[in-house]
Amino acid sequence: LTSVRYPHVQRGKYATLTEKDVDFFQKLLPQRVLQDPSELDGYNIDWMRTVRGNSQMVLRPKTTSEVAEILKYCNERHLAVVPQGGNTGLVGGSVPVFDEIVISTQLMNQIISLDEVSGIIVCQSGCVLETLDNYLAERELMMPLDLGAKGSCHIGGNVSTNAGGLRLLRYGSLHGSVLGVEAVLASGEIVDCLSSLRKDNTGYDLKQLFIGSEGTLGMVTSVSILCPRRPKAVNVAFLGVENFEAALQTFQLCKGMLAEILSACEFMDQESMQCIQENLKLTNPIKSYPLYILIETSGSHGSHDEEKLNVFLEAAMGKGIVQDGTIAMDVTQRQNIWGLRERIAEGLLHDGYNYKYDISLPLPKLYEIVEDMRQRLGSKVTRVVSYGHLGDGNLHFNVTTPEYDKEVLGLIEPYIYEWTSQVRGSVSAEHGLGFKKRDCIRYSKEPNAVKMMVKMKKLFDPNGILNPYKTIPL
Ligand code: FAD
Ligand code: MLT
Ligand code: ZN
Repeated sequence: LTSVRYPHVQRGKYATLTEKDVDFFQKLLPQRVLQDPSELDGYNIDWMRTVRGNSQMVLRPKTTSEVAEILKYCNERHLAVVPQGGNTGLVGGSVPVFDEIVISTQLMNQIISLDEVSGIIVCQSGCVLETLDNYLAERELMMPLDLGAKGSCHIGGNVSTNAGGLRLLRYGSLHGSVLGVEAVLASGEIVDCLSSLRKDNTGYDLKQLFIGSEGTLGMVTSVSILCPRRPKAVNVAFLGVENFEAALQTFQLCKGMLAEILSACEFMDQESMQCIQENLKLTNPIKSYPLYILIETSGSHGSHDEEKLNVFLEAAMGKGIVQDGTIAMDVTQRQNIWGLRERIAEGLLHDGYNYKYDISLPLPKLYEIVEDMRQRLGSKVTRVVSYGHLGDGNLHFNVTTPEYDKEVLGLIEPYIYEWTSQVRGSVSAEHGLGFKKRDCIRYSKEPNAVKMMVKMKKLFDPNGILNPYKTIPL
């Protein structure tokens, strides 16, 4: 079968669901098998509403052994599956392409343990990121990652996509803060690498393979994560600058002057600001500038941190790098400023169709591509919007049109990927490849590296039942 929606993709030679299969799952998961078409939509359609599958069944296990039973059965029957967390992924990886069975982690939401001294939390993969962070906040700890989707995304989804987010600059990637992973392979075998040790050099570090492999090598059932102390003092500044050169100078200056208390350095352009003003009715707290920078500090001494931030701002404005700025005076103002940056993704959806790119580039090149693309696309599009994690060299480049437009897509791709590849950037900095970007892997990875990945996939999942059509190219 070829999908009507994706004519270049053929359904793999998988079995289709029978009455006997349904009986098996209903006995294994009483009341936890969804088949009602009205309930299935939310699991079949992705957050951006650009990828839609046709799954007839959602399974909601509660335990690792239930996941193991499901996968063992599916593997023997050659039934394809897609692991799903909060379904906030942005590359179409979390929804079925054809009729794959959805295995949702919605009911795997138990916190297993927390060592308050070391800050190591062990929990099931379906815990919502914000719920974990709130739980930790009561104990003066925090999750080492934060993102706009925190209210819905699951920690298992975060680990499976190796989500970056707003504070990677300070706390590093999940490849560092995840200490252990328990995962179930396609065969139903449980791989228990749920270590809670800071140091463990006994053999290959298998857990790393599940971090960022987007559900193609195994289903993550539990994780162990090292959580930092919650900072006592947090300050946020929102600044306006005239051009990207000034944005880079601001970043360099704040790295030097704020040093160990710098916890985020984000940017957004005026087109991003216009988008959230028009589509979400948010308010710009300063005058209009071509670019805005959000700087956050996190430390242990409020007045000391504030003084540092003020001295930095005076220097930045004195040198003429920063034109204008505001510092949040309380939690509400802080949240409002963060909202400007975090809600751009939501604002873009209101325009209609959103072409989304998530690329890593050498910092001096980061905005060149935006200006180039703006010229290339001209008035054919509603908006060209860019924002991102300046401190990590990660640009979120977005274009919108009222509806999907093949000509516009043809102007963006493969141009943007070739551009990125020529400067040795990454065509997926933090969102993964999923369904939408899997064939772009070659722009950032050598053929031999891709071959190794194909071999690993065969080893872990010989029948290819785990999240087919995703991540690994055709
Ligand atoms: P899902 O979307 O359900 O799944 C994502 C992928 O992981 C799929 O391939 C799925 O099959 C697989 N998967 C999910 N759970 C498991 C599991 N238990 N075992 C194996 N595979 C699994 N991402 C960033 O990196 N940084 C950001 O700043 C960021 N901000 C965002 C802001 C918004 C508003 C939105 C909507 C998304 C944002 N994202 C960001 C993307 C997304 O939130 C992350 O990729 C997140 O980590 C996905 O988690 P999830 O639980 O929703 O996973
Ligand atoms: C972000 O940083 O806001 C997210 O990665 C979402 C996006 O890219 O739109
Ligand atoms: Zn991001």
